[in-house]
Amino acid sequence: MQKQSQLLVNKEFWDNYASIYDGKKASFDRYLRKRNLEILMQTFSPGQSLLEIGCGTGTEAMIMQSYGCKLTLVDLSYEMVKAASRKLNGEALFVNTPAENINCFKIQFDGAYASFGVVNCVTDPEGFFGKLHRILKPNGYFVASVINRWYWGDFLLSAIRIPNYLKKRLKGKGNIILNGVESSATAHFYSPRTLAKLASPQFKIRKYYALPVALPPPYLNPAQKLPRRLFTLLDGIESVVYNKFPFKLFGDQTIIVFQKNNIV
Ligand SMILES: C[S@@+](CC[C@H](N)C(=O)[O-])C[C@H]1O[C@@H](n2cnc3c(N)ncnc32)[C@H](O)[C@@H]1O
Repeated sequence: MQKQSQLLVNKEFWDNYASIYDGKKASFDRYLRKRNLEILMQTFSPGQSLLEIGCGTGTEAMIMQSYGCKLTLVDLSYEMVKAASRKLNGEALFVNTPAENINCFKIQFDGAYASFGVVNCVTDPEGFFGKLHRILKPNGYFVASVINRWYWGDFLLSAIRIPNYLKKRLKGKGNIILNGVESSATAHFYSPRTLAKLASPQFKIRKYYALPVALPPPYLNPAQKLPRRLFTLLDGIESVVYNKFPFKLFGDQTIIVFQKNNIV
C-alpha cells in the first residue's frame, strides 16, 4: 500500500481508538509507563522545550508538564489530539499532523520523545529522523519506546501455546490488533540495531533499555492476572536486568535514547 494511503488507514484506526484508549491502557499505565517516565525524567530537565510525537491522549505530556517542561504535542489522529487537549486543559501547543510532517516546525526544540509504538507506525522512518534532526537543538535527545523485533518471550509463549507476536515479528511487520480484531493499520518491528541504521548519521544511540523483559508483555495484562507475589518478584528482577546486556536487547519493547549528531 502507498505510504500516503497507509497513513490515512492508520489515522482512521487511531481516531476510532481514541475514546477507549485510556480505559484499555489503565493497567498498562500502572505497570510499564512508570519506567518510561523515569527515563524521560533522567534525560530531560525542567524548563526544557519538548516535542511529544504521537502524544495519544496526553498521559505523558501531562506528567512531563507538571515536571516543568514546556510541551508541544503532535499526533496523526485528530481525536487523540482533542483528547490530549482536554486532559491538559488546552495548556500546551497541540498540532494535528503526522510525524512524517514534523518539518512544519520552524523552531528548534531542546528535545523530543515518542512513547509506546509511535515510531513503529511511521511510514518513512529514515525521512522522519532527517526531519527530526532539523528541529532539535545541538546535542538534543530523542527518547522513543519502540516495539522490538526480537522478544525472547515470544518463543516461550509459543512453546506453551499462548498467543503471541512471533510470526509478525519474524515478518518484521503486521496489522495492529484491537479487541481481538485485526485492523488494516500496520506497525513495523525494529531491533535497536536496525533503528541505529535508520537514524544514522543524524542520530547516535546513547543508551537503551528493555521494556519489559522479565515481566510478561502488556497484552497478557500481568498486573491484573498474575498473583501479587509473583508480579512483585518479576518486577524486582525487571529492575535489575532491564538495562543490562544481553537482556536489554530482547524485551517486548525497547526504550532508546538517541542524541543528535551535530556534524551531519
Ligand atoms: C500506542 S499509541 C501511543 C500514544 C502515547 N504516546 C502513549 O504513550 O500513550 C500510538 C500513537 O501514535 C499516533 N500515531 C500513529 N502513527 C503516527 C504518525 N505517523 N505520526 C504521528 N502520530 C502517529 C497514534 O495516533 C497514537 O496516538
